[in-house]
Amino acid sequence: MSIHDALEAAGHSVIPVGIDRSGSWFVADSGVRPFRAEGREVDFVLPSGALVVGDEAVQADVIFPVLHGPRGEDGTVQGMFEVAGLPYVGCGVRGSAVAMDKHLAKTVVSAAGIATPRWIKIDRHRWTGDGSLIERIVSELSLPVFIKPVGQGSSIGIAKASSNEDVRSAVINAFRYDDTVIVEELVHGREIEVAVLDGPRASVPGEVVLAGGWYTYDAKYADATSQFVTPADLAEGQSRRVAHLAEEVFDHLGLNGLARIDFFLDESSGQFLFNEANTMPGFTSISGFPKMWEASGVSYPELCNHLVLAAIDRHATQAKLSTR
Ligand SMILES: Nc1ncnc2c1ncn2[C@@H]1O[C@H](COP(=O)(O)OP(=O)(O)O)[C@@H](O)[C@H]1O
Ligand SMILES: [Mg+2]
Repeated sequence: MSIHDALEAAGHSVIPVGIDRSGSWFVADSGVRPFRAEGREVDFVLPSGALVVGDEAVQADVIFPVLHGPRGEDGTVQGMFEVAGLPYVGCGVRGSAVAMDKHLAKTVVSAAGIATPRWIKIDRHRWTGDGSLIERIVSELSLPVFIKPVGQGSSIGIAKASSNEDVRSAVINAFRYDDTVIVEELVHGREIEVAVLDGPRASVPGEVVLAGGWYTYDAKYADATSQFVTPADLAEGQSRRVAHLAEEVFDHLGLNGLARIDFFLDESSGQFLFNEANTMPGFTSISGFPKMWEASGVSYPELCNHLVLAAIDRHATQAKLSTR
């Protein structure tokens, strides 16, 4: 089932809009699955927020931005909906932007006393490629390390580096995606995730079980080497602990609507370490976020409908805020 079908079944009328790689918007043909961003071109007009197709203009009641990564999940498109005065599902501009930035998110979460893997931030203008910074990284974090552009997702631009030379080339590669890169200590352990809704209210935890290696782009989308298990096989106290941590992260990052909060369960210390917050997690009915809610007693159609109604509610509350 798709969000489209779930919302239609709940009585909403849905206009599926797709954005192609060049940034053009299209009304997708709902008869063709999976949806493709092609066909009739649509303009999103600011500041009115109208969707214009040919001579026809439609004003949507609410937007469900099922977009991942930069420009979709980092507050930019959310800002456009704010300017248009339209309700939209998920986190606002601030929460989206902070959660998308791996350095900022970890800084906020660790300041709140929640453990994270140790990391070092490198800005492009500070990177000279000379050996002393690499020496410092290796002596502080020990090899191997993970190198990540701060504002990406889907494992894009991420590498595991096991030698000084690998660190250098991985940092250079990560700078292709962002002006800021983090180098992180490697954690040996399990990958535990929690789905959170407003409240904050946490689902039962789930676990990404990998056949080996780490959760690369291919392991996420292309091959069958990973499995999502929910509820995660944890002791009751551990499940409660990680759910509570996920709610705290949701609060501290200032999130709304929904987020999937990802942790490592560190094998040596038995501690949960915050990895990242995804403000628009994968959302097919077989993705982790809906599966964790399903296991917590909330069905996919209920979840989709709830998110749309919560977006409308939040917008109504925000509209009452004083502006002067
Ligand atoms: N510090 C780390 N220790 C061990 N594995 C890691 C570490 N950081 C990332 N990984 C692996 O890389 C994957 C992707 O990293 P993540 O930070 O979640 O980026 P993305 O936002 O692209 O999902 C993780 O799911 C995990 O398998
Ligand atoms: Mg991740």
